[in-house]
Amino acid sequence: MARKIVVTSGKGGVGKTTVCANLGIALAKKSLRVLLMDLDIGLNNLDVVMQVEDKVVFDFVDAVENRCRPGQALIQDADEPTLYIMPSCHLAKRQISADAVKKVVNRLADSFDYVLIDCPAGIDGGFRRAVSCADEAVVVVTPHLSSVRDADKTIAQLNDALQINIVVNRVRGDLVASGEMLSAFEVFSLLGHNPLGVIPENDDVNCNLKLHTYNKAFDLLANNLHGGTTQIYDCVSQYKGLFGKIKRRLKRNG
Ligand SMILES: Nc1ncnc2c1ncn2[C@@H]1O[C@H](COP(=O)(O)OP(=O)(O)OP(=O)(O)O)[C@@H](O)[C@H]1O
Ligand SMILES: [Mg+2]
Repeated sequence: MARKIVVTSGKGGVGKTTVCANLGIALAKKSLRVLLMDLDIGLNNLDVVMQVEDKVVFDFVDAVENRCRPGQALIQDADEPTLYIMPSCHLAKRQISADAVKKVVNRLADSFDYVLIDCPAGIDGGFRRAVSCADEAVVVVTPHLSSVRDADKTIAQLNDALQINIVVNRVRGDLVASGEMLSAFEVFSLLGHNPLGVIPENDDVNCNLKLHTYNKAFDLLANNLHGGTTQIYDCVSQYKGLFGKIKRRLKRNG
């Protein structure tokens, strides 16, 4: 039976889909069987990030409403043979119940090691539906107070039985070193849950969301999740000391 993990945040645009996709890729690179499920109806874009938009025939709403078998809605990733994507849709004509979605997730869960669920922003019905399918949560947060506040409110909405892990995304080492940005460790201590990892602000992430090249930060994240290690990506040290100060200046002026 797969570990079913919802990737959530409360605040929109902090990197849920990016973390879901790249964590899935990093796990699949370890030959683990991974299903990425987009449960964001309306603002769904996991299919775009994973570059399978043109291959979508059925989506999870079709599976929930029995227009296809759950397996028929899965799309195999072109690069990682153990990675599958279940896309979402722009519009659901009827209300989709949490129980119906849970049934589909549970039917697929036996065939995978991990089911990563991309959750919609906010804490309304779509959020509750996504969360109800999972046993664990990855809460994505950026080092900004508004994001930390929303993550805290989101955590308060999560069931006590859920294992909660925190990922701090978009950390700029140069700004942390100069004291202009909260450090990931400050964010971890404000939220008070298991620190799973740190993802730096990365221009490559912006240009090419699907990082099929080796990415150390996501690899450490996958190791921590799968192997129980506690290695946190260090994006700050290189900006400390005299050479660090020069690097900071160069980054600021570049
Ligand atoms: N570590 C990062 N470095 C640079 N850009 C990033 C990083 N993480 C995410 N982004 C960018 O931030 C934007 C929002 O990311 P993403 O779509 O993953 O957020 P989201 O939380 O899923 O949004 P939504 O709430 O709308 O579903 C995207 O343009 C993405 O490329
Ligand atoms: Mg998203």
